[in-house]
Amino acid sequence: MNKRTPLVAGNWKMNGRQELLGDMAQALAGYHGEAQVVVCPPFPYLAAARATLPETVGVGGQNLSDQEDGAFTGEVSAPMLAEVGCGHVIIGHSERRALYGETDACIADKFARAQAAGLVPILCVGETLEEREAGHTEQVVRRQLLAVVDAVGIAAFAQAVVAYEPVWAIGTGKTASPEQAQEVHADLRRTLAEKDPAIADSLRLLYGGSVKADNAGLLFAQSDIDGGLIGGASLTADSFIAICQAAK
Ligand code: 13P
Repeated sequence: MNKRTPLVAGNWKMNGRQELLGDMAQALAGYHGEAQVVVCPPFPYLAAARATLPETVGVGGQNLSDQEDGAFTGEVSAPMLAEVGCGHVIIGHSERRALYGETDACIADKFARAQAAGLVPILCVGETLEEREAGHTEQVVRRQLLAVVDAVGIAAFAQAVVAYEPVWAIGTGKTASPEQAQEVHADLRRTLAEKDPAIADSLRLLYGGSVKADNAGLLFAQSDIDGGLIGGASLTADSFIAICQAAK
């Protein structure tokens, strides 16, 4: 692992209950690894997460509104997330893009809203299987990244995290090989370095997509992989902690 402090974030998606939070709080109280750890449960559990998880563990939302507070039934704004103790928020997850029609422009708006409220965005990018097979991986992830860079400015990435999550690897058990992931991570960092080398160098780039305790070590050992965004394996305390421990 390089000089960037590794980060491991657990994205529970629409899973988990109060009981999982209790298990996680207990297990994470005994975690003293090198990686910064963030837990992202569904909205109803955020305040309880902040109250029960150790202070050293961050809490993050999985989504936020692209609007200010107001008449937007069912939405949650950035200041609300900040007020209940979130420090991070996942933005542009492929499930949001594919199932809820989030566009690059909407994702850029959410990114700006998050930062205005003092939250660190975890911006997700990633190609589908068809895009990879057509040889368009770099073109797709660069477009997703640059849509936000162009909207908010490169300086905003000094306080952000980017997660590369190939859609074909999410929840499928098909992890990108460490080499495949490293290749895309290096390209993302190069893309940002063209705008600002220092920011590109300090930015944490997470890999997500079927990360498990037994493959995390090799992925995290790649020079441009600074930790992970974990779905299924973040739903049991033992496997999540094992992955956190693999990041060093
Ligand atoms: P899995 O780890 O379940 O593949 O999910 C990855 C993910 O989408 C995290 O945001």
